[in-house]
Amino acid sequence: MPAPKSKTAAPAAVADDNEMPNAFLHEPFLDGLKDVYDAEKQLVKALPKMIKAATSEALKKGISDHLVETEGHVTRLEEVFESLGETPKAKTCEAMKGLTAEGEEATKQKNPKSRDAAIIAAAQKVEHYEIATYGTLRAWAEAMGHEEAADLLEETLEEEKAADEKLTEVSEEEIGSADDDEDLEDEE
Ligand SMILES: [Fe+2]
Repeated sequence: MPAPKSKTAAPAAVADDNEMPNAFLHEPFLDGLKDVYDAEKQLVKALPKMIKAATSEALKKGISDHLVETEGHVTRLEEVFESLGETPKAKTCEAMKGLTAEGEEATKQKNPKSRDAAIIAAAQKVEHYEIATYGTLRAWAEAMGHEEAADLLEETLEEEKAADEKLTEVSEEEIGSADDDEDLEDEE
């Protein structure tokens, strides 16, 4: 009969040999995954309001495309949890609550062009938050040797960066600058 498992830790030398590198990152890593899992779910609910309120077709399409990607990010995070032998769990992301509240404020702008500009600004804040989050989580996954998780997080990170760039493009096309078109063409 096996001896009952003791709650006390194994001798440090043994534990160190068996544990992942940089194991101290594991707790904050799991917390971060739970946080961003909730953040993505919040975003799935928030983006349709921004799509509806946007005037520019390019902006509507850009956010709609990213909504589909965002649903994929939720699923991909579930794969990340599973790759670690963990059950997917969400923990309220306070930052995304604030960012989506700002997004909702943006939709209340009366002037359509002002509203589009405010929606782009709010959406880019969301993307930058996500880029920071996924960048950190991917780096931590790599540092601990969680290769599958790192690859999955990298895929989402690239989509967030592309979404941010797309928003910049839309902003440049729809808003332009104070200068005329000729001056714009003069820019590098
Ligand atoms: Fe995302």
